[in-house]
Amino acid sequence: MNTEKKLIVVTGGAGGIGQACARALKDQPIIITDYSHEMVDETVETLASEGFDVTGIACDITDKKDIEKLINYVGRRGSLKAFIHAAGVSGAVNDLKKVYTINLLATELLINAFYELVVKDSVAILLSSMKAHTIPANKEYDEALTNPQALESFDIVSRFANKDSDIMYNFTKRGVQLLTHKYADKWGERGARIVSVSPGVIETPMALKAAKEHPEEMEMLKQATPLKRNGQPEDVADAVSFLVSDAARFITSTDILVDGGVLQNIKKMT
Ligand SMILES: NC(=O)c1ccc[n+]([C@@H]2O[C@H](COP(=O)([O-])OP(=O)(O)OC[C@H]3O[C@@H](n4cnc5c(N)ncnc54)[C@H](O)[C@@H]3O)[C@@H](O)[C@H]2O)c1
Repeated sequence: MNTEKKLIVVTGGAGGIGQACARALKDQPIIITDYSHEMVDETVETLASEGFDVTGIACDITDKKDIEKLINYVGRRGSLKAFIHAAGVSGAVNDLKKVYTINLLATELLINAFYELVVKDSVAILLSSMKAHTIPANKEYDEALTNPQALESFDIVSRFANKDSDIMYNFTKRGVQLLTHKYADKWGERGARIVSVSPGVIETPMALKAAKEHPEEMEMLKQATPLKRNGQPEDVADAVSFLVSDAARFITSTDILVDGGVLQNIKKMT
């Protein structure tokens, strides 16, 4: 049996879901990355004090030089088991370009950069959202979402998003799912997998910020959830932990919903 411990890299590792994923994967060496040094240092310190084998490096995922530094850092430390991509922003930032660049364009930059480190049984887990499933398939914007780096893609998607950053968020998360289909064959040739996970409402700083902006919508979503509660970061992290494990060895190029069942009820309402 191969007992080599392989690396788990978590982007957005200082955030609610990212940090919970790191905790759920405690038996492997963890590399935390997030936007600022302060956030990374604080998270590494916390997890190390809880007994985790953890290191970290700051990386603005929209900056190609930072991504290169991250890849070199990971490459020097060992072999890649999982790249868990939990960095992202909600529509609350009120900036369509920022939502598009951080959530979608940077996701493709990272998929391509991490490919350098991919070996047999590596896996990429990309955080999408239940909201992605509210955007139907469409030839024109799906082409743009699948090719986020193309010059015209942002303008095409913005037009469909009606200049609304919350709707842009939903589009970018559909794009994340489309990227798993785009790259599954390439990763599969190395025996590696690429999967997205779509949380419902999860009580993290991101969701609490959204709750302040749209309190009625958040209450409606809770009432429409069959389990009558919001999700906790651990609900998502446990699903991610399963997807990283060998038990999920035949799961790739797909999306896993972790939403307490709310999506089906939202669909019935519209
Ligand atoms: N919380 C929810 O209800 C929910 C629901 C559906 C999907 N999601 C998705 O799950 C993921 C994690 O969300 P969360 O709730 O933990 O949010 P969070 O705000 O707690 O964490 C997100 C992290 O991303 C980091 N980040 C933002 N921009 C960055 C950049 N340019 N470079 C590097 N890091 C950057 C932030 O610093 C933060 O630590 C996100 O992709 C989010 O869209 C969350």
